[in-house]
Amino acid sequence: MRIPLYRPPYDERDEHALLTALRGGRIVGDGEHTQRASERLAALLNVPHVLLTPSCTHALELAMLALQLQPGDEVILPSFTFVSSANCVLRAGGRVVFADVVADTLTLDPADVARKLSPRTRAVMPVVYAGVSPNLEAIARALDGRPIPIVEDAAQGLGASYRGRAAGTTGVMGCYSFHETKNLSTGEGGAFVTTNAEFMARAEIIREKGTNRKQFLLGQVDKYTWVQVGSSFLPPDLTGALLLSQLDKLPSIQQSRQTIYHRYLDELQPLQQHGLLTLPVLPPEVQSNYHIFHVLLADEPTRNRAIKFFSARGIATAFHYLPLHLSPVGRALGGKPGDCPVTESCSSRLLRLPIFPSLTADAQTEVIAALRDFFSP
Ligand SMILES: Cc1ncc(COP(=O)(O)O)c(C=O)c1O
Repeated sequence: MRIPLYRPPYDERDEHALLTALRGGRIVGDGEHTQRASERLAALLNVPHVLLTPSCTHALELAMLALQLQPGDEVILPSFTFVSSANCVLRAGGRVVFADVVADTLTLDPADVARKLSPRTRAVMPVVYAGVSPNLEAIARALDGRPIPIVEDAAQGLGASYRGRAAGTTGVMGCYSFHETKNLSTGEGGAFVTTNAEFMARAEIIREKGTNRKQFLLGQVDKYTWVQVGSSFLPPDLTGALLLSQLDKLPSIQQSRQTIYHRYLDELQPLQQHGLLTLPVLPPEVQSNYHIFHVLLADEPTRNRAIKFFSARGIATAFHYLPLHLSPVGRALGGKPGDCPVTESCSSRLLRLPIFPSLTADAQTEVIAALRDFFSP
């Protein structure tokens, strides 16, 4: 496509960072760059513990394994999310309970969390959508005073915040993605963060193949050994090197995205006033990182026609998550139409527009003009 949906912000500084790390001759996991990138992230997010992982998918698996779910334990999460939010629960032996989202931000609906709460609820997983945090206070209130851990899927959340706290750090654990599509990118990559030392200790062991290697490296045990079932959730040190150079660019990336996002909001306002589309909402307690710009159209056929219309002009647009409760796996778990009505409606009408730092003003003018033309050819 002439105008893509996203373009990762790689440049010569990233090339230099990767080459320097490679020439250092040591790029195994948890090397010098991984260490420095983890410290930078911990400072940025204001959390004590960060582990880099090969992806957010792995970070979510680490979080669910650290929770030590027992058979029958339930985790409430939105149906409107990426498959990894749900896979991690099933892989850790838990049960997924799908809840609906609220229409304005497409994030977890606190009222539906309250409805889905059961004696078996073991965790709740709010998901940052488009760089916007869910209403975390209302979700906490919905837990009715029970000490149920909140694990945030902040795959899309780096650089965003909720009431001044970094998105992904309000719960006991949080997970981030540095996939190619995200604001900061290492191709594939992720991070697990926690505010809790016990979860951190468990996660370190699981991530290091189920061994106490970390304690050995710290001189706390004289040999390292297999202490529980684990896996290898370490990215190569090249990921840390690239993440460091990407982190240097975070403020300018956010700034460009913010400008593009607000221009869409301003210039598409008349289309909303004419009832042709619904613009995204930024609640006052939320600072977005402007990861996605989306609009809701009247219905699914209109949305699908819009994607084709843009495509004919060389502009990439896209739909997004399909309701997980209606996927083949979701249906096998008992999901049926009508379970999450807002998810079902919004998912079928959602259209994402190009947003990335190097989107030029002229290219954005074309995208906006195309949307106007779509409605009045
Ligand atoms: C909400 C959410 N969770 C998890 C993931 C998985 O991230 P990764 O590709 O880093 O595994 C994504 C990816 O887009 C996502 O949007």
